[in-house]
Amino acid sequence: MQSRPGTEGAGPLSLGRLLRRRRNVYGFSSRRVSQRTLLSILEDATHVPSAGFTQDFDFVVVRDSGTKAKLASAAHEKEYVNAGHARAGFLVNAPVVVVPCANRAKFEGKYGAPAERNARLPWWLIDSGFSALALILSAYEKGLVASFIGALDDRQVAEALSLPRDGSIVPLAIVPMGYRDRHESAVWRAASGKEARRRRLRPEDVLHWDRW
Ligand SMILES: Cc1cc2nc3c(=O)[nH]c(=O)nc-3n(C[C@H](O)[C@H](O)[C@H](O)COP(=O)(O)O)c2cc1C
Repeated sequence: MQSRPGTEGAGPLSLGRLLRRRRNVYGFSSRRVSQRTLLSILEDATHVPSAGFTQDFDFVVVRDSGTKAKLASAAHEKEYVNAGHARAGFLVNAPVVVVPCANRAKFEGKYGAPAERNARLPWWLIDSGFSALALILSAYEKGLVASFIGALDDRQVAEALSLPRDGSIVPLAIVPMGYRDRHESAVWRAASGKEARRRRLRPEDVLHWDRW
């Protein structure tokens, strides 16, 4: 375990604290992410369960600003900025933007096509979801912050990243990551403060013992 997001050196974070400190953030400092740290985060993200060990997920790692700008448009960044939730350019200014993808072709490679016939649920999406969460948690564990932006224009993302046009690769989300922007503290406080904690469901709200 490493340091708290934005407070490197403040001591290790247990998994419980890590889970409680993670927030969807909308601003990043200009500090670059070293290749070593980035690769370590990406490697962590592969250590997740997957249906039949298909490992049916991929990551497109974007550092090029032109491509980030296209992703910002695909993720409707303007709307966040206009609503006061984000600083303009939060996606372009993120040192790294990762697009976790579900690889339906890998799933079909093992179980046959069409994928829907061979899975009770879209397991390729579930597997990719696991890897996206691992990616984000690993970033936090290493002192970074990261977000999951799922509402996006698929066509624009496919275009920006040259994804295959046959639907075999499904972009799950846009995950900007980097070091925390201290000037984003108002948004951070809103997302992590008492009110936000009060809104978080308690175990008794979601638990069903022995029956529904
Ligand atoms: C499937 C999914 C899609 C999401 N899409 C978006 C999105 O498009 N934009 C956004 O700002 N947050 C998005 N989020 C983040 C949630 O809004 C956020 O996790 C939730 O409000 C709880 O806040 P927290 O992550 O800071 O605890 C998404 C989260 C998930 C799991």
